Amino acid sequence: MTVKPRIALIPHASPTSPAARAALMENPGFGKVFSDHMVTITWSVERGWHDGAVKARAPFAIDPAAAVLHYAQEIFEGMKAYRTKDGLALFRPEENARRLNLSAERMAMPPIPEDLFIEAVETLVRIDADWVPEGDGSLYLRPFMFASEAFLGVRPASEYIFCVIASPVGAYFKGGYKAVTVWVSDDYTRAAPGGTGAAKCGGNYAASLIAQAEATRNGCDQVVFLDAAERRWIEELGGMNVFFVMDDKRIVTPPLGTILPGITRASIMKLAAEAGYTVEERLYGFDEWQADAKSGKLREAFACGTAAVIAGIGTVKFRDGSFAIGNSGDGEVTSQLRAKLVGVQRGTVKDDHGWVR
Ligand code: COI
Repeated sequence: MTVKPRIALIPHASPTSPAARAALMENPGFGKVFSDHMVTITWSVERGWHDGAVKARAPFAIDPAAAVLHYAQEIFEGMKAYRTKDGLALFRPEENARRLNLSAERMAMPPIPEDLFIEAVETLVRIDADWVPEGDGSLYLRPFMFASEAFLGVRPASEYIFCVIASPVGAYFKGGYKAVTVWVSDDYTRAAPGGTGAAKCGGNYAASLIAQAEATRNGCDQVVFLDAAERRWIEELGGMNVFFVMDDKRIVTPPLGTILPGITRASIMKLAAEAGYTVEERLYGFDEWQADAKSGKLREAFACGTAAVIAGIGTVKFRDGSFAIGNSGDGEVTSQLRAKLVGVQRGTVKDDHGWVR
């Protein structure tokens, strides 16, 4: 008996020649260049997940009444494929599958079986293997799911599309891998208790854009959000978690709840603890941040995420002033943790945790 593949190949001629692909991948930046294929899988109340396909990347034809366009029922993930000496590697993809399903639950969307999620991602990486850059770059994978049912009533939709696209990328920040400047927003908050802060839903990012634009206007790379209730505690950056490195081998990071449960965040916490640091997940106030930077107790701070990896924070700006952290550059601990994490991801440092697939 032949088993029907869950993700069928829809044959087509590759639209990008090897020469054109090489030119596109020379200096790809972040999220501007896309590979040739995409995976789509449809869900309906009647049929569950069905019609899995890998095909030419192309625009969707969706109904103008599709619920996602009106009520923003959409979630996504970010992950990367790396070129290593042993072949292509993914970093903790089962954690992305798990988190997507937590986001799905919060947004009243159907869960996708973890093995189907991983099969979708691996199918795309295999078929677009030539799009995985050599050297420092990677193939950024963007699995996402949205409500496709044409219906204007406000309730969870009865039809969804899950899709994975891929983009060869270099550094997330324009300045490459040097320390970034951040803007602390006191006008806007990102997430409130009971809200969607812990879900990776498009709406969270939409709500962050005005504050990110304010950060850019003030010459900063990223916005820092404070908590919604007291406007006091550091929560996270527009698209990254944040860590503070103290002078006594302690590393502080804000606790989960209203922030994104970053996979890079969790991996760093583990690597830092193994390197002998005491990692504290605790509330850390903006007042404390300023005082610790001034006294020298705070040695380094860094942002982290799949896209950004680990980026040192050199300068903090806010409405009433600014302050520098450490030597305003990449600190020693930041560099050490980045080297370890990137080494594991790229197979040059031993993977003691079974993180690489
Ligand atoms: C990621 O790090 O993968 C994200 O989804 C964040 C976004 C700023 C690109």
